[in-house]
Amino acid sequence: MDLSGRNILVTGGGAGIGLALARALHAKGNRVIICGRDEARLGEVVRETPGLIPVRADVATAAGRDALLADALARLPDLDMLVNNAGIQRRAKFHADAADWTERAQEIAINFEAPVHLAALFLPHFLACPGAAIVNVSSGLAFLPVTFAPVYAATKAALHSFTIALRDDLRGTRVKVAEIIPPMVNTGLGGQGLHVAGVPVDIFVKAVVDRLAAGELEIGYDMSEKFRTASREELAGILAQLNG
Ligand SMILES: NC(=O)c1ccc[n+]([C@@H]2O[C@H](COP(=O)([O-])OP(=O)(O)OC[C@H]3O[C@@H](n4cnc5c(N)ncnc54)[C@H](OP(=O)(O)O)[C@@H]3O)[C@@H](O)[C@H]2O)c1
Repeated sequence: MDLSGRNILVTGGGAGIGLALARALHAKGNRVIICGRDEARLGEVVRETPGLIPVRADVATAAGRDALLADALARLPDLDMLVNNAGIQRRAKFHADAADWTERAQEIAINFEAPVHLAALFLPHFLACPGAAIVNVSSGLAFLPVTFAPVYAATKAALHSFTIALRDDLRGTRVKVAEIIPPMVNTGLGGQGLHVAGVPVDIFVKAVVDRLAAGELEIGYDMSEKFRTASREELAGILAQLNG
């Protein structure tokens, strides 16, 4: 995949994996919009990395996604790459989760509904581009229905499935569909301190960008590469250990 001279939107580009991806893609000569809910944070990022284009957006709602389409195309009319990276993780065993449904439903809306809706919104524009790409960020937990984050894992399994179907659907068009499948990466996902044992974010993102540029369309790393390629029996063994 050509990763230079593009016009890119990275959702959740103000922190973590999205920010590292945005910086790496910007350094390769692309124009990059970063979006997130926290406007002050986006401002800080742009002071640290001038050139990144901040757009405040909340992808949890359909109205927020409609507004993001309009704002992104107003800033970069030749936008030709969408990175569906924004995500949240709730850690709660299902039987013990006492949060109200509005809070619980956010995880489904942000992690699954948003990438599907944004793909639908941007696709007509992308189909008219000389070469466009949709890149979905799922998770190694797409392959492991863990009890510590059951809805999170299910949203990522759904996103993995949707990404494969979308790639097949768009075969024969000029729109490429890729999936980044992170292992545990050291970011603030789910709250500070939960992912400190993970891979350093810049090391992970450098490998991902190199592999995307080399044309790989489904990219795991370290443990998530193992999960992505494991047999059902191997996954059942790993899950039995994780779920106890
Ligand atoms: N870190 C890991 O171990 C790991 C492993 C597997 C998969 N992943 C996936 O990688 C992606 C990035 O996660 P991360 O680790 O970089 O987490 P992170 O550091 O918490 O960053 C998540 C980003 O998403 C944005 N975001 C969340 N809700 C949003 C919303 N409603 N609208 C717009 N932006 C929103 C956040 O910005 P605001 O709060 O400002 O909105 C933030 O910039 C996620 O999809 C995650 O599931 C991460």
